[in-house]
Amino acid sequence: MLQTLITRLLFAIISSSIAYGTTVQAPTRAVPTYLPIPSSAAGPPIPPVGYRVESFGKGAYMVTEGTYQSIFVVSTHGVIVVDCPPTIGHNLLYAIGNTTHLPITHLVYSHSHADHIGGASLVLSSSLVKKKITTIAHSVTSARLSRVPDPNRPVPQVTFQDSYNLRLGNQTLQLSYKGPNHLDGNIFIYLPKQKLLMLVDVVYPGWTPFDRLGEVSNLPGYIRAHDQILSYDFNHYVGGHLDRSGTRQDVEVQREYIHDLYDNCKETIRLTATSDPVLGAQTILGAALGANPGNPWAAFRAYLDIAAEYCANVTNEKWSTRLAAADVFQFSNAAAMVESLRIDYGILGPFGNS
Ligand SMILES: *[C@@H]1O[C@H](CO)[C@@H](O)[C@H](O)[C@H]1NC(C)=O
Ligand SMILES: *[C@@H]1O[C@H](CO)[C@@H](O)[C@H](O)[C@H]1NC(C)=O
Ligand SMILES: *[C@@H]1O[C@H](CO)[C@@H](O)[C@H](O)[C@H]1NC(C)=O
Ligand SMILES: [Zn+2]
Repeated sequence: MLQTLITRLLFAIISSSIAYGTTVQAPTRAVPTYLPIPSSAAGPPIPPVGYRVESFGKGAYMVTEGTYQSIFVVSTHGVIVVDCPPTIGHNLLYAIGNTTHLPITHLVYSHSHADHIGGASLVLSSSLVKKKITTIAHSVTSARLSRVPDPNRPVPQVTFQDSYNLRLGNQTLQLSYKGPNHLDGNIFIYLPKQKLLMLVDVVYPGWTPFDRLGEVSNLPGYIRAHDQILSYDFNHYVGGHLDRSGTRQDVEVQREYIHDLYDNCKETIRLTATSDPVLGAQTILGAALGANPGNPWAAFRAYLDIAAEYCANVTNEKWSTRLAAADVFQFSNAAAMVESLRIDYGILGPFGNS
Protein backbone atom coordinates (compact mmCIF):
# COMPACT_ATOMS: atom_id res chain seq x y z
CA MET A 1 0.00 0.00 0.00
CA LEU A 2 2.85 2.38 0.74
CA GLN A 3 4.32 1.44 -2.61
CA THR A 4 3.72 4.81 -4.25
CA LEU A 5 5.15 6.83 -1.38
CA ILE A 6 8.09 4.47 -1.09
CA THR A 7 8.74 4.58 -4.82
CA ARG A 8 8.68 8.38 -4.70
CA LEU A 9 10.99 8.40 -1.71
CA LEU A 10 13.44 5.97 -3.32
CA PHE A 11 13.36 8.02 -6.49
CA ALA A 12 14.18 11.16 -4.52
CA ILE A 13 17.05 9.45 -2.70
CA ILE A 14 18.47 7.92 -5.87
CA SER A 15 18.18 11.11 -7.92
CA SER A 16 19.78 13.21 -5.19
CA SER A 17 22.68 10.75 -4.94
CA ILE A 18 23.14 10.90 -8.70
CA ALA A 19 23.03 14.69 -8.57
CA TYR A 20 25.62 14.91 -5.81
CA GLY A 21 27.67 11.93 -6.95
CA THR A 22 27.23 10.11 -3.63
CA THR A 23 26.18 6.55 -2.93
CA VAL A 24 22.98 5.61 -1.10
CA GLN A 25 23.75 5.44 2.61
CA ALA A 26 22.80 2.40 4.64
CA PRO A 27 20.39 3.45 7.40
CA THR A 28 22.06 3.89 10.78
CA ARG A 29 19.08 2.38 12.62
CA ALA A 30 18.11 -1.25 12.21
CA VAL A 31 15.05 -1.58 9.95
CA PRO A 32 12.45 -3.82 11.58
CA THR A 33 10.60 -6.36 9.47
CA TYR A 34 6.95 -7.19 10.11
CA LEU A 35 4.45 -9.86 9.18
CA PRO A 36 3.39 -9.89 5.51
CA ILE A 37 0.17 -8.07 4.61
CA PRO A 38 -2.76 -10.47 4.13
CA SER A 39 -4.39 -10.22 0.69
CA SER A 40 -7.75 -9.42 2.35
CA ALA A 41 -6.32 -6.07 3.46
CA ALA A 42 -4.91 -4.85 0.17
CA GLY A 43 -6.91 -3.06 -2.51
CA PRO A 44 -6.36 -3.15 -6.28
CA PRO A 45 -2.88 -1.88 -7.26
CA ILE A 46 -2.26 1.85 -7.68
CA PRO A 47 -1.68 2.51 -11.41
CA PRO A 48 1.71 3.99 -12.47
CA VAL A 49 0.13 7.47 -12.71
CA GLY A 50 0.22 7.45 -8.86
CA TYR A 51 -3.45 7.37 -7.92
CA ARG A 52 -6.53 5.21 -8.32
CA VAL A 53 -10.16 6.25 -8.72
CA GLU A 54 -12.87 3.94 -7.35
CA SER A 55 -16.44 4.49 -8.52
CA PHE A 56 -19.41 3.81 -6.23
CA GLY A 57 -21.88 4.52 -9.06
CA LYS A 58 -24.32 7.42 -9.52
CA GLY A 59 -21.50 9.97 -9.66
CA ALA A 60 -19.64 9.25 -6.39
CA TYR A 61 -15.90 8.45 -6.49
CA MET A 62 -13.01 7.79 -4.12
CA VAL A 63 -9.45 8.85 -4.97
CA THR A 64 -6.43 7.26 -3.26
CA GLU A 65 -2.66 7.30 -3.71
CA GLY A 66 -2.42 4.18 -1.53
CA THR A 67 -2.25 5.70 1.96
CA TYR A 68 -4.88 8.47 2.00
CA GLN A 69 -8.36 8.85 0.52
CA SER A 70 -10.78 11.60 -0.47
CA ILE A 71 -14.08 11.52 -2.33
CA PHE A 72 -15.75 13.66 -4.98
CA VAL A 73 -19.38 13.66 -6.05
CA VAL A 74 -20.51 14.78 -9.50
CA SER A 75 -23.94 16.39 -9.55
CA THR A 76 -25.91 17.99 -12.36
CA HIS A 77 -24.84 21.39 -10.92
CA GLY A 78 -21.17 20.90 -10.12
CA VAL A 79 -18.74 18.81 -8.09
CA ILE A 80 -18.59 18.38 -4.32
CA VAL A 81 -15.21 17.40 -2.88
CA VAL A 82 -14.70 15.97 0.62
CA ASP A 83 -11.11 16.40 1.90
CA CYS A 84 -7.92 16.90 -0.05
CA PRO A 85 -5.01 15.10 1.61
CA PRO A 86 -1.78 16.85 0.53
CA THR A 87 -0.28 13.48 -0.47
CA ILE A 88 -3.01 13.17 -3.13
CA GLY A 89 -2.84 16.89 -3.92
CA HIS A 90 -3.04 17.73 -7.64
CA ASN A 91 -3.92 14.13 -8.49
CA LEU A 92 -7.36 14.73 -6.96
CA LEU A 93 -7.88 17.58 -9.44
CA TYR A 94 -6.66 15.41 -12.33
CA ALA A 95 -9.07 12.65 -11.29
CA ILE A 96 -11.96 15.14 -11.31
CA GLY A 97 -10.83 16.74 -14.57
CA ASN A 98 -10.75 13.33 -16.24
CA THR A 99 -14.26 12.49 -15.00
CA THR A 100 -16.34 15.60 -15.70
CA HIS A 101 -16.28 19.06 -17.26
CA LEU A 102 -18.42 20.45 -14.44
CA PRO A 103 -16.74 22.91 -12.03
CA ILE A 104 -15.98 22.24 -8.36
CA THR A 105 -18.56 24.13 -6.30
CA HIS A 106 -18.21 22.76 -2.73
CA LEU A 107 -15.40 21.56 -0.47
CA VAL A 108 -16.33 19.74 2.74
CA TYR A 109 -13.76 19.33 5.55
CA SER A 110 -14.17 15.99 7.36
CA HIS A 111 -12.16 17.40 10.30
CA SER A 112 -9.37 19.90 10.84
CA HIS A 113 -6.28 17.66 10.58
CA ALA A 114 -3.74 18.87 8.00
CA ASP A 115 -2.98 15.41 6.64
CA HIS A 116 -6.58 15.17 5.34
CA ILE A 117 -7.53 18.77 4.49
CA GLY A 118 -4.11 20.44 4.03
CA GLY A 119 -4.74 20.37 0.25
CA ALA A 120 -7.76 22.69 0.61
CA SER A 121 -5.74 25.62 -0.78
CA LEU A 122 -4.99 23.59 -3.94
CA VAL A 123 -8.70 22.93 -4.50
CA LEU A 124 -9.67 26.56 -3.82
CA SER A 125 -7.09 27.95 -6.27
CA SER A 126 -7.75 25.30 -8.94
CA SER A 127 -8.89 26.17 -12.46
CA LEU A 128 -11.68 23.63 -11.88
CA VAL A 129 -13.34 26.26 -9.67
CA LYS A 130 -15.20 28.53 -12.08
CA LYS A 131 -17.28 31.11 -10.23
CA LYS A 132 -17.30 30.44 -6.55
CA ILE A 133 -16.70 27.61 -4.14
CA THR A 134 -18.33 27.07 -0.75
CA THR A 135 -16.34 25.48 2.08
CA ILE A 136 -18.27 23.60 4.78
CA ALA A 137 -17.21 22.09 8.12
CA HIS A 138 -18.34 21.56 11.69
CA SER A 139 -18.14 24.67 13.90
CA VAL A 140 -15.48 23.02 16.08
CA THR A 141 -13.31 22.54 12.98
CA SER A 142 -13.75 26.22 12.18
CA ALA A 143 -12.81 27.21 15.73
CA ARG A 144 -9.71 25.00 15.63
CA LEU A 145 -8.57 26.47 12.30
CA SER A 146 -9.15 30.00 13.60
CA ARG A 147 -6.95 29.32 16.63
CA VAL A 148 -4.09 27.86 14.57
CA PRO A 149 -4.27 29.67 11.23
CA ASP A 150 -2.83 27.82 8.22
CA PRO A 151 -3.01 29.24 4.69
CA ASN A 152 -3.38 25.69 3.38
CA ARG A 153 -6.56 25.19 5.47
CA PRO A 154 -8.63 28.37 5.23
CA VAL A 155 -11.33 28.76 7.88
CA PRO A 156 -14.54 27.28 6.36
CA GLN A 157 -17.28 29.70 5.26
CA VAL A 158 -20.29 27.61 6.28
CA THR A 159 -20.43 25.81 9.62
CA PHE A 160 -23.03 23.73 11.46
CA GLN A 161 -23.55 22.19 14.90
CA ASP A 162 -25.59 18.99 14.56
CA SER A 163 -26.41 18.32 10.94
CA TYR A 164 -26.33 19.90 7.52
CA ASN A 165 -28.04 18.65 4.38
CA LEU A 166 -25.98 19.51 1.32
CA ARG A 167 -28.27 19.22 -1.71
CA LEU A 168 -26.80 20.09 -5.09
CA GLY A 169 -28.68 19.17 -8.26
CA ASN A 170 -29.25 15.44 -8.19
CA GLN A 171 -26.92 14.68 -5.23
CA THR A 172 -27.36 14.73 -1.45
CA LEU A 173 -24.69 14.65 1.26
CA GLN A 174 -25.99 14.36 4.82
CA LEU A 175 -23.38 15.81 7.16
CA SER A 176 -23.82 14.90 10.78
CA TYR A 177 -21.95 15.47 14.04
CA LYS A 178 -22.37 12.89 16.80
CA GLY A 179 -19.80 14.14 19.31
CA PRO A 180 -16.04 13.75 19.58
CA ASN A 181 -14.34 10.53 18.46
CA HIS A 182 -10.99 10.57 16.63
CA LEU A 183 -11.16 14.35 17.10
CA ASP A 184 -13.90 16.76 18.11
CA GLY A 185 -15.52 18.21 15.00
CA ASN A 186 -15.03 14.98 12.99
CA ILE A 187 -18.22 14.49 10.95
CA PHE A 188 -20.16 11.62 9.37
CA ILE A 189 -20.72 12.16 5.63
CA TYR A 190 -23.55 10.03 4.22
CA LEU A 191 -24.71 9.71 0.62
CA PRO A 192 -28.10 7.97 0.74
CA LYS A 193 -28.35 7.40 -3.04
CA GLN A 194 -25.01 5.57 -3.16
CA LYS A 195 -25.34 4.07 0.36
CA LEU A 196 -21.87 5.46 0.99
CA LEU A 197 -20.64 6.51 4.44
CA MET A 198 -17.43 8.44 5.05
CA LEU A 199 -15.96 8.88 8.53
CA VAL A 200 -12.26 9.65 8.56
CA ASP A 201 -9.63 8.20 10.92
CA VAL A 202 -11.95 5.77 12.71
CA VAL A 203 -12.14 2.44 10.82
CA TYR A 204 -9.17 1.15 8.79
CA PRO A 205 -10.67 -1.60 6.57
CA GLY A 206 -8.55 -4.76 6.80
CA TRP A 207 -5.89 -3.08 8.95
CA THR A 208 -5.24 -2.43 12.63
CA PRO A 209 -5.77 1.25 13.40
CA PHE A 210 -2.88 3.67 12.89
CA ASP A 211 -0.54 4.65 15.76
CA ARG A 212 -2.28 5.11 19.16
CA LEU A 213 -5.65 4.07 17.70
CA GLY A 214 -5.35 6.62 14.93
CA GLU A 215 -4.09 9.38 17.29
CA VAL A 216 -7.40 9.17 19.07
CA SER A 217 -8.39 12.17 21.18
CA ASN A 218 -11.58 10.75 22.74
CA LEU A 219 -11.45 6.99 23.15
CA PRO A 220 -14.94 6.43 24.61
CA GLY A 221 -16.33 8.46 21.67
CA TYR A 222 -14.15 6.49 19.27
CA ILE A 223 -15.46 3.14 20.56
CA ARG A 224 -19.05 4.46 20.38
CA ALA A 225 -18.47 5.62 16.78
CA HIS A 226 -18.36 1.98 15.63
CA ASP A 227 -22.00 1.55 16.69
CA GLN A 228 -22.93 4.92 15.21
CA ILE A 229 -21.45 3.83 11.86
CA LEU A 230 -23.38 0.55 11.95
CA SER A 231 -26.65 2.39 12.59
CA TYR A 232 -26.42 3.72 8.99
CA ASP A 233 -27.72 1.82 5.96
CA PHE A 234 -24.51 1.68 3.91
CA ASN A 235 -22.71 -0.62 1.49
CA HIS A 236 -19.49 1.38 1.10
CA TYR A 237 -17.33 2.92 3.82
CA VAL A 238 -14.55 5.44 3.20
CA GLY A 239 -12.22 5.73 6.18
CA GLY A 240 -9.73 8.21 4.72
CA HIS A 241 -6.78 5.77 4.82
CA LEU A 242 -5.03 3.04 2.88
CA ASP A 243 -5.81 1.81 -0.59
CA ARG A 244 -9.34 0.48 -0.60
CA SER A 245 -12.81 1.36 0.60
CA GLY A 246 -14.52 -0.79 3.21
CA THR A 247 -17.73 -2.70 3.71
CA ARG A 248 -20.10 -3.18 6.61
CA GLN A 249 -18.16 -6.34 7.44
CA ASP A 250 -14.88 -4.41 7.74
CA VAL A 251 -16.55 -2.14 10.30
CA GLU A 252 -17.96 -5.12 12.23
CA VAL A 253 -14.51 -6.75 12.32
CA GLN A 254 -12.86 -3.59 13.66
CA ARG A 255 -15.64 -3.24 16.23
CA GLU A 256 -14.85 -6.75 17.47
CA TYR A 257 -11.14 -5.90 17.51
CA ILE A 258 -11.60 -2.73 19.55
CA HIS A 259 -13.77 -4.53 22.11
CA ASP A 260 -11.17 -7.32 22.40
CA LEU A 261 -8.43 -4.76 22.92
CA TYR A 262 -10.57 -3.08 25.59
CA ASP A 263 -11.22 -6.39 27.40
CA ASN A 264 -7.59 -7.52 27.17
CA CYS A 265 -6.21 -4.25 28.51
CA LYS A 266 -8.78 -4.17 31.30
CA GLU A 267 -7.74 -7.68 32.35
CA THR A 268 -4.09 -6.58 32.15
CA ILE A 269 -4.73 -3.71 34.57
CA ARG A 270 -6.48 -6.14 36.92
CA LEU A 271 -3.41 -8.39 36.86
CA THR A 272 -1.12 -5.43 37.67
CA ALA A 273 -2.97 -5.05 40.97
CA THR A 274 -2.02 -8.63 41.95
CA SER A 275 1.31 -10.06 43.03
CA ASP A 276 1.92 -11.51 39.56
CA PRO A 277 5.73 -11.89 39.18
CA VAL A 278 5.80 -10.13 35.76
CA LEU A 279 2.80 -7.79 35.86
CA GLY A 280 2.46 -7.04 39.57
CA ALA A 281 2.89 -3.27 40.01
CA GLN A 282 4.92 -3.57 43.22
CA THR A 283 7.59 -5.61 41.44
CA ILE A 284 7.68 -3.31 38.39
CA LEU A 285 7.69 -0.05 40.33
CA GLY A 286 10.17 -1.33 42.91
CA ALA A 287 12.67 -2.42 40.25
CA ALA A 288 12.35 0.84 38.28
CA LEU A 289 12.70 3.02 41.38
CA GLY A 290 15.66 0.93 42.57
CA ALA A 291 17.46 1.67 39.30
CA ASN A 292 16.23 5.31 39.18
CA PRO A 293 15.99 6.60 42.75
CA GLY A 294 13.63 9.57 43.17
CA ASN A 295 12.26 9.26 39.63
CA PRO A 296 8.53 8.36 39.72
CA TRP A 297 8.22 9.06 35.97
CA ALA A 298 10.70 6.23 35.30
CA ALA A 299 8.59 3.95 37.51
CA PHE A 300 5.35 4.97 35.83
CA ARG A 301 6.82 4.48 32.40
CA ALA A 302 8.00 0.97 33.30
CA TYR A 303 4.51 0.13 34.55
CA LEU A 304 2.73 1.52 31.46
CA ASP A 305 5.19 -0.15 29.08
CA ILE A 306 4.80 -3.62 30.59
CA ALA A 307 1.01 -3.27 30.75
CA ALA A 308 0.81 -2.20 27.09
CA GLU A 309 3.23 -4.92 26.00
CA TYR A 310 1.26 -7.64 27.78
CA CYS A 311 -2.09 -6.42 26.43
CA ALA A 312 -0.58 -6.19 22.92
CA ASN A 313 0.82 -9.74 23.18
CA VAL A 314 -2.55 -11.17 24.20
CA THR A 315 -4.37 -9.20 21.50
CA ASN A 316 -1.92 -10.29 18.78
CA GLU A 317 -2.58 -13.97 19.49
CA LYS A 318 -5.94 -13.50 17.82
CA TRP A 319 -5.53 -10.46 15.61
CA SER A 320 -2.12 -10.78 13.94
CA THR A 321 -3.70 -13.15 11.42
CA ARG A 322 -6.96 -11.21 11.04
CA LEU A 323 -5.89 -7.59 10.57
CA ALA A 324 -2.87 -6.29 8.68
CA ALA A 325 0.08 -4.80 10.58
CA ALA A 326 -1.11 -5.87 14.04
CA ASP A 327 2.57 -6.21 14.95
CA VAL A 328 3.36 -2.66 13.79
CA PHE A 329 1.03 -0.59 15.98
CA GLN A 330 -0.37 -3.06 18.54
CA PHE A 331 1.90 -1.82 21.31
CA SER A 332 0.95 1.83 20.80
CA ASN A 333 -2.72 0.92 20.34
CA ALA A 334 -2.63 -1.02 23.62
CA ALA A 335 -0.80 1.89 25.30
CA ALA A 336 -3.57 4.28 24.21
CA MET A 337 -6.21 1.85 25.49
CA VAL A 338 -4.49 1.28 28.87
CA GLU A 339 -4.19 5.03 29.47
CA SER A 340 -7.83 5.66 28.50
CA LEU A 341 -9.05 2.81 30.71
CA ARG A 342 -7.20 4.47 33.57
CA ILE A 343 -8.18 8.10 33.11
CA ASP A 344 -11.43 7.99 31.10
CA TYR A 345 -12.99 4.81 32.49
CA GLY A 346 -11.47 5.04 36.00
CA ILE A 347 -10.02 1.52 35.91
CA LEU A 348 -6.94 2.40 37.91
CA GLY A 349 -5.80 -1.04 39.11
CA PRO A 350 -3.00 -0.59 41.66
CA PHE A 351 -3.44 3.22 41.60
CA GLY A 352 -7.08 3.20 42.70
CA ASN A 353 -8.47 4.28 46.09
CA SER A 354 -6.43 2.65 48.83
C1 LIG B 1 -26.12 13.10 -11.15
O1 LIG B 1 -25.67 13.76 -12.30
C2 LIG B 1 -24.33 13.48 -12.67
C3 LIG B 1 -23.93 14.41 -13.81
O2 LIG B 1 -24.82 14.25 -14.86
C4 LIG B 1 -24.20 12.00 -12.99
O3 LIG B 1 -22.85 11.69 -13.31
C5 LIG B 1 -24.63 11.17 -11.79
O4 LIG B 1 -24.62 9.81 -12.10
C6 LIG B 1 -26.02 11.60 -11.33
N1 LIG B 1 -26.29 10.96 -10.03
C7 LIG B 1 -27.52 10.65 -9.60
C8 LIG B 1 -27.64 10.08 -8.23
O5 LIG B 1 -28.50 10.79 -10.29
C1 LIG C 1 -6.12 13.47 -16.61
O1 LIG C 1 -5.18 12.72 -15.83
C2 LIG C 1 -3.84 12.83 -16.25
C3 LIG C 1 -3.01 11.85 -15.39
O2 LIG C 1 -3.16 12.12 -14.04
C4 LIG C 1 -3.37 14.27 -16.09
O3 LIG C 1 -2.05 14.40 -16.53
C5 LIG C 1 -4.30 15.17 -16.89
O4 LIG C 1 -3.94 16.52 -16.68
C6 LIG C 1 -5.74 14.94 -16.48
N1 LIG C 1 -6.65 15.74 -17.29
C7 LIG C 1 -7.42 16.70 -16.77
C8 LIG C 1 -8.33 17.39 -17.73
O5 LIG C 1 -7.40 16.99 -15.58
C1 LIG D 1 5.48 -10.09 24.90
O1 LIG D 1 5.93 -11.02 23.92
C2 LIG D 1 7.32 -10.96 23.68
C3 LIG D 1 7.61 -11.89 22.49
O2 LIG D 1 7.08 -13.16 22.72
C4 LIG D 1 8.05 -11.37 24.93
O3 LIG D 1 9.46 -11.29 24.72
C5 LIG D 1 7.66 -10.39 26.04
O4 LIG D 1 8.25 -10.79 27.27
C6 LIG D 1 6.15 -10.36 26.22
N1 LIG D 1 5.85 -9.29 27.17
C7 LIG D 1 5.08 -9.47 28.28
C8 LIG D 1 4.91 -8.28 29.16
O5 LIG D 1 4.50 -10.50 28.52
ZN1 LIG E 1 -7.23 13.07 11.79
